[in-house]
Amino acid sequence: MRISLQTLIVIGTCVAGAALVFGLVSAQYQQIAALQKQAELSQLAQRDNRHLQLMSAQWLTTIDLFFGYQQSYLVGGISTQAEQLVAISRQFEELDNPDISTLAATLPESIRAVVALTGEAAIQADPDSDAWNESVTRTDAITASLIDQLDQLDSTVAQQLQMDTSLLAGANRRLQFVLGISCSLYILVMLLAWLWLNKSIVRPLEVLSAQTAQNKFSDDSIFLIGKAPREIVALSKGLHNFTARLAKAKNQVEKKKTELEENLQELQDTRLQLIQAEKLSSIGQLAAGIAHEINNPMSYIKSNLSTLTRYFDAFKRAIAGQEALFQAAADAPQTAGTHLQELRTLHEEEDFEFLIPDSQEILKDAVDGAVRIQGIVKDLYGFSHVNNNGYTQVNINDLVQQALRIVANQLSPDTKVVTRLGKIPVIIAEGDKLSQVFLNLLVNASHALNGGGQITLATGAKDRRVWLQVKDNGCGMPEDTLVKIFDPFFTTKDVGEGTGLGLHIVQEIIHSHSGKIDVKSAPGKGTVFSIVLPVEQAGYQADTVTPMQ
Ligand SMILES: Nc1ncnc2c1ncn2[C@@H]1O[C@H](COP(=O)(O)OP(=O)(O)OP(=O)(O)O)[C@@H](O)[C@H]1O
Ligand SMILES: [Mg+2]
Repeated sequence: MRISLQTLIVIGTCVAGAALVFGLVSAQYQQIAALQKQAELSQLAQRDNRHLQLMSAQWLTTIDLFFGYQQSYLVGGISTQAEQLVAISRQFEELDNPDISTLAATLPESIRAVVALTGEAAIQADPDSDAWNESVTRTDAITASLIDQLDQLDSTVAQQLQMDTSLLAGANRRLQFVLGISCSLYILVMLLAWLWLNKSIVRPLEVLSAQTAQNKFSDDSIFLIGKAPREIVALSKGLHNFTARLAKAKNQVEKKKTELEENLQELQDTRLQLIQAEKLSSIGQLAAGIAHEINNPMSYIKSNLSTLTRYFDAFKRAIAGQEALFQAAADAPQTAGTHLQELRTLHEEEDFEFLIPDSQEILKDAVDGAVRIQGIVKDLYGFSHVNNNGYTQVNINDLVQQALRIVANQLSPDTKVVTRLGKIPVIIAEGDKLSQVFLNLLVNASHALNGGGQITLATGAKDRRVWLQVKDNGCGMPEDTLVKIFDPFFTTKDVGEGTGLGLHIVQEIIHSHSGKIDVKSAPGKGTVFSIVLPVEQAGYQADTVTPMQ
């Protein structure tokens, strides 16, 4: 990775500043540590010096007692005290201070000289002798010089302690000064670096961030920052290229989306056409039976109408005879008898006692036949019609019976239909599509029976769901057929007899209602199709949906 000059300067400044502060502080600290040690030694010397001065005073007093009052027994104490003084004065030699150690080094010699003189004087023990006086004189001279040496040592030790203490205080003050200055300088440098970084890095980054927030992946001119650290320029170029690629990809995706939407629309249209074609194909397969069903009532309506035409002729003649009789009674009463006779003959010939109730019977039959034809046409219309009513309140039992009426004519007389329609709630569904489902299943069952057998239709409800079973004891299916029956265009029927779309569309319709379809079959034993449908559909409330027309 290449690092920009700005970043290097910032890193360099931070490291150099930190090293400088560390160096200065550490040097000061080492100096302070050395001075501290020195001051501690001086304090020790001061303590030893006080001890030395105190003991010297006692020792000199003992010597005065010895010489002044000729206490010769004190010579042993003088010697012991002298050894202690020598031991204390030796301690000064350990101090790394030539002035003090030189002064201290002269003490043992004087002390021992005095001890020697007191030793000699104690042996003589005669204060009037010259030797005694000589010892006193020499001892006075040595102790006077010793006192001088001790005074010098005292003042040198005091000076040294004072000097070390003031050096230590000075070094401490310097350390505080160095610390204060270097921290202030460091803060100042950091502040300047931060301001500079803010200007050269943060600001360009803010500009980039604002650009990214506004970018609509279309404007090629943005995301390019000229004056900024190398990394930021690289980032802006990267973003620029990335957004350019995104904009291109977005265009492609949008194109693809439009294409896919068009394709989807086409597929939906084709699907609707297929469903409709399949519907018509089912109706086509049933056409012969339906024609027969319509033909039956039509033929007796026709024969009834021709009988009625004949009856109508007799009624016409009777009415004409009546009119002639009424006319004769008014205009020529002598001819009325003839007309009355003619009317009686007509009554005897035509048997109006029979014709009138028979006409009523014939008319009623004709009306029944017409109603039956109307029913068949209505059922057929329900299936063949492209219905876009959408979801309505639907009674499954009604739809099953309607499908049964349409299929009934194609069932052989040896086929028994058993219906066990339970008490079920209305459901929200696309009624015309469900009719197609039931019709397809019934047509398939009738084909599977191939002559005679039994079709059982059952419905029921459980847990806000309704179920339907279409069962036949026809040919059944082997396993390899069973796994393919819902595939589009799969059929075992001869060309022209089946499209193979029936069960595929059945499955699609059930799934579009969030329902389930299941099949069980065994060759030679029969087949059961089971369907389960929810009473409600997502997005539809039972009470807001109108009943099916
Ligand atoms: N009740 C059944 N008993 C036995 N086989 C059946 C039954 N129902 C369907 N099949 C088998 O499933 C195949 C596919 O049925 P599907 O209804 O999809 O098409 P089809 O009946 O052949 O033609 P169409 O599209 O005209 O309905 C049928 O050809 C048949 O072999
Ligand atoms: Mg079918």
